[in-house]
Amino acid sequence: MNGELRVLFPQIKSENTFVFETRLFTPQDKLYMAPMQFLTDYRFRNAYDKIFPNAIDKAITPFISLTHGSLKFGKRKYKEVLKENNISEMDIIPQVLGNDINGLIEVADALFSLGYKEMNWNLGCPYRRSLNKDRGAGLLKDTQRIEKIIDAIVNKIPINLSLKLRLGVESIDDIYRLIPIINAYPLSRVVIHPRLAKDKYSSEVDLNCFEDILSKLNKRVVYNGDIFSKQDFNRLKMRFPSVCDWMIGRGLLFNPCLPYEIKLMEYPIKKERIIALHNELLKNFSSVNKLKEYWTFFAKGLFLNESDINLIYETKTTDELDRVVKRILKLLNP
Ligand SMILES: Cc1cc2nc3c(=O)[nH]c(=O)nc-3n(C[C@H](O)[C@H](O)[C@H](O)COP(=O)(O)O)c2cc1C
Repeated sequence: MNGELRVLFPQIKSENTFVFETRLFTPQDKLYMAPMQFLTDYRFRNAYDKIFPNAIDKAITPFISLTHGSLKFGKRKYKEVLKENNISEMDIIPQVLGNDINGLIEVADALFSLGYKEMNWNLGCPYRRSLNKDRGAGLLKDTQRIEKIIDAIVNKIPINLSLKLRLGVESIDDIYRLIPIINAYPLSRVVIHPRLAKDKYSSEVDLNCFEDILSKLNKRVVYNGDIFSKQDFNRLKMRFPSVCDWMIGRGLLFNPCLPYEIKLMEYPIKKERIIALHNELLKNFSSVNKLKEYWTFFAKGLFLNESDINLIYETKTTDELDRVVKRILKLLNP
């Protein structure tokens, strides 16, 4: 687990010359929790919203796969979006991954019957399995196929359709070919993570390309990528004042207090909040490995040293993990 997750971690950025203490977040701005498979699932969302009320306004769920098991409505397949599982105040937008027209329509119908108003279509998943099977970002090279699918479903489904995408697979030409299609159809929003699929998380986000396509799109655009601090948010808001929708993924897991910092909302000492979230997660998850995945992020955000991180990784039960993290955090200066 650790090896794979560690690759996803950028260096947490050190402060640059400017420190913005002002709140650039306006009443029109909304913060979205990013979909992160196995991490920002409904149990995490419920726990997070309980400990950090009003921090996050909307959440796109990790994807429901069209190809995993039967498409038929079932509590297991739809567990992410069942109303009884979603007890947070956040506005939830379910996400789907796949390329089958009938499947997309079937899922949209099921989501409608559960009371949802929007379905988000994943055109951003950069992993080999998706790329090879023309799903997620794998579809970005085939603009005509995307158009065919949108055309076939957008007026057939009883809910709004939105997209979440990267700039392309290997070249930003992909997004440029897609712009007229995005503009031609009634899509409720487009979430853009300005990286290529081939770069996964390794390159810098391409803000110049984002700026250019923002000026060419006639849709509500959600910015997503590398918001790790209030300063990151403020810099982006200064550069893109017309954007009011901001999605945070890894930054929220490194520092669950980040939305409060961006919104300049008061909160008690950070480590106490994180322990409160940890206590809530303990109620929702019985697997120590699952909790360690969260602690891989929290530990980095709390700047724990390597030996403390190793102590956390070595725990074998949730009780042991609980004791270890509480002991470590009490030893830290507030
Ligand atoms: C472990 C992991 C799982 C992810 N799962 C999904 C997913 O199910 N659907 C999706 O659209 N994006 C998924 N993403 C991408 C994130 O939603 C987001 O676009 C990406 O992390 C960039 O945002 P960030 O820089 O704020 O983390 C995932 C990312 C990670 C690291």
